[in-house]
Amino acid sequence: MKILVVFDSVWGNTEKIAKAIGTALEPRGEVKVVKADAAKPADFGEKDLIIVGSATQKFNALPAVKKLLASLPAGSLKGAKVAAFDTRLPVAEAKSRVLKFMAKNFGYAAEKLGKTLVAKGGEQAVAPEGFFVGGTEGPVKDGELERAVSWAGKL
Ligand SMILES: Cc1cc2nc3c(=O)[nH]c(=O)nc-3n(C[C@H](O)[C@H](O)[C@H](O)COP(=O)(O)O)c2cc1C
Repeated sequence: MKILVVFDSVWGNTEKIAKAIGTALEPRGEVKVVKADAAKPADFGEKDLIIVGSATQKFNALPAVKKLLASLPAGSLKGAKVAAFDTRLPVAEAKSRVLKFMAKNFGYAAEKLGKTLVAKGGEQAVAPEGFFVGGTEGPVKDGELERAVSWAGKL
């Protein structure tokens, strides 16, 4: 099985999750883990499983990963299983009602990435998932790397 994990990350938290997912999938086949700005549309070709992740910023994925997915030709992910993840703040724990309201209404990166992957022809392997960081620069919250490994196990 050929597996691609593409991620974008500012402070390295999403990269840690992406690498944990990549390592967890190694027994399943040939895994390539690549940052969005170093990935090319050709990297998506002939992959059986494609996982895309991004830090959530302004309720969305980072620009490089959005641009990369937008550059994929229509239908080009046909035949591939796809899944999306993000990192995010635990907004449910936030005191600000405005922030909670906005996060509830505008969402996170993973759902949007997942929709784009399906719109490009991919078949959703598992529901999009978010992994929590403790603050804007991290760290990845306790237990989240393990949760990412277990999410990868469902793929
Ligand atoms: C400008 C900016 C906007 C952000 N917007 C959101 C947001 O809408 N929702 C959220 O949960 N976290 C938000 N965050 C926190 C990021 O999700 C967090 O920095 C990220 O998960 C860290 O991952 P990274 O180290 O891979 O960049 C924002 C952070 C920045 C700097």
